[in-house]
Amino acid sequence: MLFKGKKAIVFGGTSGIGLSTVVKLVQEGAEVIAVGLTEGKAVPELPEQVIRDWCDVRKSEQVASIFERYGQLDMIISTATGGTRALGPFLEMDMTGYRNSFDKLWGYANVVRYGAKWLSKNGSIVLLSGSPARRCGQGQIALSSVGAAVEAFVKGVAKEVAPNRINALCPGVIDTPIVKLSKSEKEAYYAARTKHHLIPRVGTADECVQGIVFLLSNEFVTGTVLDVDGGAILAT
Ligand SMILES: NC(=O)c1ccc[n+]([C@@H]2O[C@H](COP(=O)([O-])OP(=O)(O)OC[C@H]3O[C@@H](n4cnc5c(N)ncnc54)[C@H](OP(=O)(O)O)[C@@H]3O)[C@@H](O)[C@H]2O)c1
Repeated sequence: MLFKGKKAIVFGGTSGIGLSTVVKLVQEGAEVIAVGLTEGKAVPELPEQVIRDWCDVRKSEQVASIFERYGQLDMIISTATGGTRALGPFLEMDMTGYRNSFDKLWGYANVVRYGAKWLSKNGSIVLLSGSPARRCGQGQIALSSVGAAVEAFVKGVAKEVAPNRINALCPGVIDTPIVKLSKSEKEAYYAARTKHHLIPRVGTADECVQGIVFLLSNEFVTGTVLDVDGGAILAT
C-alpha cells in the first residue's frame, strides 16, 4: 500500500475528481478527511472510514480552523471548484461572473496559506488547474485566466513550500458532476468538446487520480504541472 500510515485531506472530496482521489487514497492505506461545501450531503461512494467535514474554501477563517482541527498532514489536495464558472465571449461577459470564477484560485490560496504549515516532512500538496490554462478555447477566457493563475501560483509558491512539494494536475474534459446535463446531453456535449483532441473522448476521474497519485508519491517532483487531457492542449 502506497500511502499506509499517511494522513491526507481532500478539499472537494465529495464529488468528481476529489471523490475519486479520496477512494484511491483509502485503498492505498491513507487516513483521509474529505471536505465538501454542502453540509450533510449524502455521498454513498465515500468509504465509511473517511472523516467528513465541511467548509467554504473562500473563507480563510473556515479553512484555517479545518487545519487546526486535524493537525499534522502528509498530503493536502484541493479540487474544490470554489464557485461558479463564467463561460462565453469575454466582451459580453458579466464582470461579476468573471470575478467569481476566481473563487477557485482564492480557495486554493487559502488552502495553501493556512495548510502548508501543517505539512509533515516530505509533505505534498496537489491543486488542479485545467487545459484552458494553456489553450483557451472559444468562450473559455475566464477558465483560462484562472487556470493560468493557478499554474503560476503553484510554480511561484513551490520555492516557499520547499523542501515540501506542491504540484498541479491539469485535467482536460473529464466526466464529473461539474457538467449539469442529462446523460444523453452529456454524451453529445463531451463528443463535441473532445472531437479535435488527440484522444477524442472524455476522460475519467480515475485517469486524473493516477496523475494525482504520481504527484503525491514521487518525492523528486515539485513546481510542475502534469497534463491529463487526452492531448487537449495540442488539438488543432
Ligand atoms: N471536470 C472537468 O472537466 C474539469 C476540467 C478542467 C479542470 N477541472 C477542475 O478540476 C477540479 C475538480 O473538478 P470536478 O469536475 O471534480 O468538480 P465537481 O465534481 O463539481 O466537484 C467540486 C467539489 O468542490 C466542492 N466545492 C465547490 N465549491 C466549494 C467551496 N466554496 N468550498 C468548499 N468546497 C467546494 C464541492 O463540494 P460539494 O460536493 O459540497 O458541492 C465538490 O466536492 C476543479 O478545480 C475544476 O475546475 C475539471
